[in-house]
Amino acid sequence: MKKPTMIRVCNGKTCGCRQAKQIMAAVEQVTGLAAGGQNDDYDVDYRSCTGYCERANNVVVDDTLIYQHAQPATIMSKIRVGLGLPYVKLPPKDINVDELLEL
Ligand code: FES
Repeated sequence: MKKPTMIRVCNGKTCGCRQAKQIMAAVEQVTGLAAGGQNDDYDVDYRSCTGYCERANNVVVDDTLIYQHAQPATIMSKIRVGLGLPYVKLPPKDINVDELLEL
């Protein structure tokens, strides 16, 4: 059995202030799932900062591809044809500096 395609829409500070919700709405419309949902074809949810805030909005698929400057109108068609870039994990950039200083 094929594993569902794991779609993670970044909802960190930068992406969250831009179109994260609209991108998730587009993903939900096509997949028929709400954030946190899974079926045989898709596993959909939000995720934390990918580290590529300057290229927001970001969507990570199967932890291997990243879709940068993602747009609600095109994200699912790009995912379907695999037009993402290889996802190289970076430390998140939306770290709360105040929290770090309290450690
Ligand atoms: S908040 Fe989305 S990549 Fe940093």
